[in-house]
Amino acid sequence: MSLELSPLEHARFGFVTARGELAPEASIDAVLQRAHELGAEVVMLRVPTSNLRGAQQALAEGAILADTLVYYEAAVGDPAPVTLAAGLHHRMLGPQDAQEVETLARAAFRDYVGHYHADDRLSREAADETYASWASRSCEGPPVADAVIGVEDNDGSIVGFITLRRAGELASIELNAVSPDHQRRGIYAGLVGLSMNWASQQGCRKVSVSTQLNNVSVQKVWCRFGFEPARSYYTLHLWIPAPRS
Ligand SMILES: CC(C)(COP(=O)(O)OP(=O)(O)OC[C@H]1O[C@@H](n2cnc3c(N)ncnc32)[C@H](O)[C@@H]1OP(=O)(O)O)[C@@H](O)C(=O)NCCC(=O)NCCS
Repeated sequence: MSLELSPLEHARFGFVTARGELAPEASIDAVLQRAHELGAEVVMLRVPTSNLRGAQQALAEGAILADTLVYYEAAVGDPAPVTLAAGLHHRMLGPQDAQEVETLARAAFRDYVGHYHADDRLSREAADETYASWASRSCEGPPVADAVIGVEDNDGSIVGFITLRRAGELASIELNAVSPDHQRRGIYAGLVGLSMNWASQQGCRKVSVSTQLNNVSVQKVWCRFGFEPARSYYTLHLWIPAPRS
């Protein structure tokens, strides 16, 4: 049972937060015991969807279902040409772009429902800021991101970005957004193509990416690039002591 405190979430939401994954053999009692040892007020628990019994036990302890994540993976091939709509081009982003990317992320994720937003006890404003802050920190480089690719309009404004990490032969797409004014122009598809090329240039063999199960837009794009579903998780929030009905 791996459960660790998350200082970032503590600072963001004002609750002592522990995060971890419920392994198939782990019991919910072990989670509760570890949460008490850590002094956690809330546990954000990833439960493989194959561990339905574990999820049921956590729900019986008062956990709430906050989201369902699906992971996809694709093999990396040779770099391939990527076509963006007329007037658009791409470039690698850096610390000088952090502010603009933060603003873009704040706008793009405004109505997004992630696991923070799904929990009424967490501040909506703080939940919104998680994406803006993550986007901004990604532009500062490792460890948050190894690369950030941006798409710019011909007036020089950034209209979409994608953040990437690399661990050995595995590349992962971490965070991506397209400005609400520029959505449905194929910019996201272009960003995924550019990410596959980046992974290839880095010598990676595989790319991994995840999203909410109901985010169909991005999954359609991934399938077109040859991604296949790999695994999935429930995210449960278990408040300590868990309220009993
Ligand atoms: C999801 C997102 C990145 C898509 O960006 P985009 O540049 O508009 O995507 P594309 O133009 O490449 O379109 C991809 C597919 O999604 C569809 N799509 C895009 N926005 C959509 C919407 N609001 N509703 C329904 N379908 C949508 C497109 O029609 C396209 O499918 P199609 O080719 O069958 O028509 C963008 O909407 C966004 O930033 N959303 C908020 C943040 C987010 O969800 N990030 C991803 C988290 S994993």
